Amino acid sequence: MPQTDDAQTEPYYDPYDFEIDADPYPVWKRLRDEQPLYRNEKYGFYALTRFDDVEKALVDWRTFSSARGTLLELINAVNDGSFEIPAGSIIFEDPPAHDVHRKILSRVFTPKRMREIEPKVRDFCAANLDPLVGSGGFDFITDIGVDVPMRTIGMFLGIPESEQRAIRDHIDDGLSMKTEGMPDLSSYDVASQAQLFADYIEWRAENPSDDLMTDLLQATYVDTDGVEKNLTREEVLGYVNLLAAAGNETTTRLIGWAGKVLSEHPDQQAELAADRELVNQTIEELLRFEAPSPVQARYVMNDVELHGETVPAGSSILLINGSANRDERRFENGDSFNIHRDIDHHLSFGYGVHFCLGAHLARLEARVVLDEIVKRFPKWEVDLDNAVQARTSTVRGWEKLPVLLP
Ligand code: HEM
Repeated sequence: MPQTDDAQTEPYYDPYDFEIDADPYPVWKRLRDEQPLYRNEKYGFYALTRFDDVEKALVDWRTFSSARGTLLELINAVNDGSFEIPAGSIIFEDPPAHDVHRKILSRVFTPKRMREIEPKVRDFCAANLDPLVGSGGFDFITDIGVDVPMRTIGMFLGIPESEQRAIRDHIDDGLSMKTEGMPDLSSYDVASQAQLFADYIEWRAENPSDDLMTDLLQATYVDTDGVEKNLTREEVLGYVNLLAAAGNETTTRLIGWAGKVLSEHPDQQAELAADRELVNQTIEELLRFEAPSPVQARYVMNDVELHGETVPAGSSILLINGSANRDERRFENGDSFNIHRDIDHHLSFGYGVHFCLGAHLARLEARVVLDEIVKRFPKWEVDLDNAVQARTSTVRGWEKLPVLLP
């Protein structure tokens, strides 16, 4: 039994406990108030939960490194030598290599490509949502939340439509936790994951097109040693895998949260239906309120003083951006959802050198999807008895989120 929220006991946070994950906010609040530097003895990690602490640590990559992975289980597996970070994973690199590689990847998000996305996302929405008009309900995840990000990132990468579903299901399966407790990465099949795209990349090398994979294959860059290079096939594969995973999972969860949170706030749901101009700020508040990727792990490079304690070099630390976003020291009534909130910035897309490269794309997709849903279905009620939470240590959200239409 988790010891989540009993004021008599010490607060306990465990990222691999399904019951805590169902609603981590009470324990995160206790950590912010009682133990702003938290230490979990079971798994041997530290955690920061206040906005200012998390923001500072995300920026300070010299102390808080991503190079051993950004999941606790990944850092452990790299530490004990059972897992090697694959090439091309910019999210698992520190500067200066990170900056060189990020620049290549950011070049392929061209303004022209971004402009072309919106009408296509609207078409995907129409294809998925129009058949549901007049029905008694639909599922925010399986009927729309999965498809739109998958088709968008698939189109970006140049993955044929016929193969998108299989690839997405494979990624989803790879992230899914079958049981509680820290996942064992020794059985994780990197080769089979990579193989998904390997043949396709070879084919693209022979048959260039106007897509991101072609751009990556043709990209030249000056490395940290001053030499002009092309990306290796392994690096291209790493980039493509990262984009496919990052582009699919998180955006799907955000769309799911829109379904749940708005249903639970019918006044704000009605306001949005009456004035769809509110959709941008609704998405921003949803991102703050329910961070789809709420925990970023780091490896501590040198002894660091935090809240009067020394965190020794070699420790793992969790930067809980999902908690920071609700910190009352930063956001008044942080635990309440308010689409009229004035948000300077939240930490749902991270901060600093690893700030999400897909943030613009994710916001665009979520905005269009929510707009197209509200246009057709101004009111819905979540059917929580039949909803299923996704179990992963990376993203937090719903696997199934059925809603009923009046
Ligand atoms: C709601 C949707 C999304 C959320 C909440 C999200 C969240 C995040 C977060 C928190 C980070 C920083 C990780 C860290 O500091 O260790 C990140 C990085 C990243 N995201 Fe996203 N993301 C979303 C959508 C996307 C999309 C659609 C793409 C791609 C098309 C994408 C690509 C990336 C990449 C490449 C990085 C690594 C950047 C770097 O290391 O420099 N993300 N994302």
